[in-house]
Amino acid sequence: MSAAEYRDESGQSLRPWKDTTIIGKPMPRVDGYERVSGAAVFPSDTSLPGMLYGAILRCPHAHAHVKSIDTRKAEKMPGVRVVITGKTPGCGVDWTYTTPTAMVKIKLFDPHLRHEGEEVAAVAAETPYQACDAIKAIKVEYEVLPFVVDPKKALEGQAPALYEGGNRVGKTQTYERGDVTRGFAEADVVLEETYHTACELHTPIELHGCVAKWDGPRLTVWEPTQGVFAVQAGIAQVLGLPLANVRVIGHYVGGGFGSRLTAGKYDIVAALLARKTGRPVKLFLTREETYLCVGNRPPDEMRLKAGVKKDGTLTALEYSALGTGGAYPGSGTSNVDWLVRDLYTCPNVRTDTTDVYINAGPARPFRAPGHPQCAWALEQMMDALAEAIGMEPVELRLKNIPSHSQARGNIPYTTTGLKQCLEEGARAFGWKEARQKAAESRRNGSHIRRGVGMAAGLWVVGGGRPPVTVVVKLFADGSVNLNMGASDIGTGTKTVMAMVVAEELGIPLEKIQIENADTGTTQFTTPSGGSKTVPSEAPAVRAAAFSVKQQLLAMAGRDLKSSPAELEFRGGSIGVKGNPGKEVKISSLTELKERGVILGVGIRGPNPADKWVTPFSAQFCEVEVNLNTGEVKVLRFLGTNDSGRVMNRMTFECQVYGGITMGIGLALTEARVLDGNQTGKMVNRNWHDYKLPTALDVPADMVSLPIEMDDPWCNSAGAKGLGEPATIPTAAALANAVYNATGARMTSTPMSPLQLGEALASRGKGG
Ligand code: MOS
Repeated sequence: MSAAEYRDESGQSLRPWKDTTIIGKPMPRVDGYERVSGAAVFPSDTSLPGMLYGAILRCPHAHAHVKSIDTRKAEKMPGVRVVITGKTPGCGVDWTYTTPTAMVKIKLFDPHLRHEGEEVAAVAAETPYQACDAIKAIKVEYEVLPFVVDPKKALEGQAPALYEGGNRVGKTQTYERGDVTRGFAEADVVLEETYHTACELHTPIELHGCVAKWDGPRLTVWEPTQGVFAVQAGIAQVLGLPLANVRVIGHYVGGGFGSRLTAGKYDIVAALLARKTGRPVKLFLTREETYLCVGNRPPDEMRLKAGVKKDGTLTALEYSALGTGGAYPGSGTSNVDWLVRDLYTCPNVRTDTTDVYINAGPARPFRAPGHPQCAWALEQMMDALAEAIGMEPVELRLKNIPSHSQARGNIPYTTTGLKQCLEEGARAFGWKEARQKAAESRRNGSHIRRGVGMAAGLWVVGGGRPPVTVVVKLFADGSVNLNMGASDIGTGTKTVMAMVVAEELGIPLEKIQIENADTGTTQFTTPSGGSKTVPSEAPAVRAAAFSVKQQLLAMAGRDLKSSPAELEFRGGSIGVKGNPGKEVKISSLTELKERGVILGVGIRGPNPADKWVTPFSAQFCEVEVNLNTGEVKVLRFLGTNDSGRVMNRMTFECQVYGGITMGIGLALTEARVLDGNQTGKMVNRNWHDYKLPTALDVPADMVSLPIEMDDPWCNSAGAKGLGEPATIPTAAALANAVYNATGARMTSTPMSPLQLGEALASRGKGG
């Protein structure tokens, strides 16, 4: 069944809207006032009567064994209600890390500590300060073990092993199509380069943690998560509870970026502390703890060899990546070869990816896992190939636009907007003129060099998917309650879904209230992530609203004594087409008054079986590089996205600006620094030393140019997903702009003044 034939449970077929009245408009967030005024209650704002505060004792070493723990002094400290370790009855629970390639089962408080910050013990006390003091009073005897924090060294024979089987995470994964040897022989130019991307940290504003409260056998957890049902499942599994006994609530989320897709150890620790004390427990990590323990974008080293003919035809790509997800399976190489496999047409491709354990905090998915890293390599290589054959960089990409997913059995995409992203983006940016002007400006001999660059991308898992169930309730007064399990991770999900209801029912946004992200009261869905929230939820929301509409028409038909097919919606009324006088107010419908409510249930149908739904993007930017200081000033950015239909132009633009901002961080400022020599510890675990881009690093001149191609196949909303494709090309586009400005090919992130200064010096004076 293709999505164009998508039917709701009543068998009604929903085709993508043709004309819309609300969808596509710029609409401010429905909860904007609450967010801006501080009235919104985030999980970290939760305060319950009798609540205790939890704190976790964490390993201060990169690698160690716990020999003994003495909690006696801590237990006697003022305000302390409980101290737990792995030996405390009921607290010796298992914790499992699972990825497609590996599974490791440890204890929640495991005596073998494989990274700095790993959990050793925990305390609940009357105040957060008492909890912190008590943590410090726990005496632990550690056997400090040799560590390894460099992925390459971790593969060497004499490296300290994190596991008995060594440091490799499963087998090296390989992919191959065609014959790369023949492909390189056919090429006019073959280039080879090694690229690095540094480890990035998510650093959402709201800290990780939760409030946990037991009512007899039932546990309620307030967690700022991207997916309440995923956290429910994680907690239930670890504690051996029925799903029905675990309620997870996450009405607001202060940023996630992939770091909040599953339950964390802190959820379990809080639940155990609450169970031991019989009191609610609030346990939120410190910023420093989140830097060490709740995820990161894995660093990757990528070697890429590419062959191209003089006419711009790619003949072969050979790619080898080494990544690390830290001390536990964290998908250090997840999708890190995807763009090489599938962004451009190329008959001969070979990739291998190796994931290795090091003594560092485990990775978690981070906005477009693997893709910005791979774009950093591939899109710089495309730039270099273009130069080598004397072709315009945009032209070279246009020469190699795919219409099919070559890496997935040559299945066609529903739409491929890459060409439009490149062409319309280049036109709107003024690409040719900007490149020319930059080249002219460089001839004046100034130490301030202008450069212009671009890059492209696609996102592997676009288009959303089942399962999603949504309920739309229409009350007797015509007001509506939208009930959905999805989290709004700050991207505007609630607003977009309210717009879908408003579009379908013809009622104003203010009449729609939203219940969401509560496993106890809202309907099942998967986490908000993977750029799939809108394309997953919107079709279900639309189907639910559509069901309400059909029921309303049937009721109105009975009141007006006409067939539903003859009726139309007129704001708060339903009337007979062509008969302006004959209508009934929704709030006056006889059956609605009797029943008090109409329920519409919407269930997300499957995606088309014979097509891939894939968003595409391209970005263009202009920079100034100071040759004396190595500073890069980003002057402007333009992001084009083929994400299908624009649901809300305002939140769409915000996603693009956010994606570009995040990509600027990857390119210019962000890097986790581990001390590989003496301690293995992270040395920049705070917002001062870990450099996020600030307002001064981000250009005021940012433009979002949506490429709205009609996609009748992807789903009944016509949207393909935006959050991740909006950050994939950014860093590579900046590197290409820096190259354009200076002639220095920056193969490693971040392009800090220090790194760039070194590159400029080794490239020769002035350039
Ligand atoms: Mo995303 S990395 O699926 O939040």
